Amino acid sequence: MEKTYALITGASQGLGKAFVLELAKRKINPILVSLPGEGLAFIADEVKALGMEAHCYETDLTQKENIVALADWVNDRFPLSILINNAGCGGTQSFRNASVDYLDRIIQLNVRATSLLTHQLLPNLSRQKCAYVLNVGSVAAYSPIGYKTVYPASKAFVHSFTRGLYQEFADSNVFFSVVNPGPMMTNSDSCSRLQQQGRFATMGLLSPEQVAAISIRQLFKRDTLIMLNWVNRLTWMVMKFLPIYIRLPLLTNAIKKEISRA
Ligand SMILES: NC(=O)c1ccc[n+]([C@@H]2O[C@H](COP(=O)([O-])OP(=O)(O)OC[C@H]3O[C@@H](n4cnc5c(N)ncnc54)[C@H](OP(=O)(O)O)[C@@H]3O)[C@@H](O)[C@H]2O)c1
Repeated sequence: MEKTYALITGASQGLGKAFVLELAKRKINPILVSLPGEGLAFIADEVKALGMEAHCYETDLTQKENIVALADWVNDRFPLSILINNAGCGGTQSFRNASVDYLDRIIQLNVRATSLLTHQLLPNLSRQKCAYVLNVGSVAAYSPIGYKTVYPASKAFVHSFTRGLYQEFADSNVFFSVVNPGPMMTNSDSCSRLQQQGRFATMGLLSPEQVAAISIRQLFKRDTLIMLNWVNRLTWMVMKFLPIYIRLPLLTNAIKKEISRA
């Protein structure tokens, strides 16, 4: 049987790691990508224990030349059937106090790396009988939010970029999908934020493993805008129908309170 390969960015922890293990359980060989020195080899061992191949590539995706080098490395070695653009970063700060590097990193990773990696791997994906691209956005894609600086805008980009490609490639063998998760207990930042926000914030909370499992299941069902559960769907509907003059100050004030509590 022909081997199937999937590339996952941000594979060292959180949702990316969950995607890696979910794909391995489905007999798909993952190619793990993250920053250097973050223990990809340990996750690769978990994949091998499931009887699958695991290939690791450590690089900083905020650098354009690294994205091109990664794509060349993959294109020379593997027939790629799945790309998951998961690596992403964000945070909460006032725009005035945010450093240039902080802003630049969010834009380069969330926007540029997602676009360029997809572009560079598309010829490879197009050669496969059937290929999938899953981009990880966020519920922050559905509304601007003050004090989140460029994060919601970058995720709105991911959402819009994916929807456009879905339509552009509708008659092709490459299928595009986007998932916009709500908060998850992944890194220490998101864990402490969720704990501070109390019971309301944890309603319908999904683990990274649940998000990965639902996303992959829906991706293979060719669901182009993946809704993870009823809370995720409700958030989408509320953001769609609540007028901007209500939701923008509401969300911004909630985040502002979070900053002043910290
Ligand atoms: N956590 C949430 O509450 C939440 C909610 C909605 C959406 N999301 C989205 O879900 C995705 C995954 O989030 P997460 O919480 O699982 O993230 P995370 O735990 O912070 O992990 C981020 C991953 O991206 C990698 N990464 C960061 N900077 C990189 C760079 N410059 N080059 C290459 N890889 C880099 C990290 O690698 P290293 O380990 O090597 O640093 C890590 O593997 C992101 O796109 C995020 O925006 C998260």
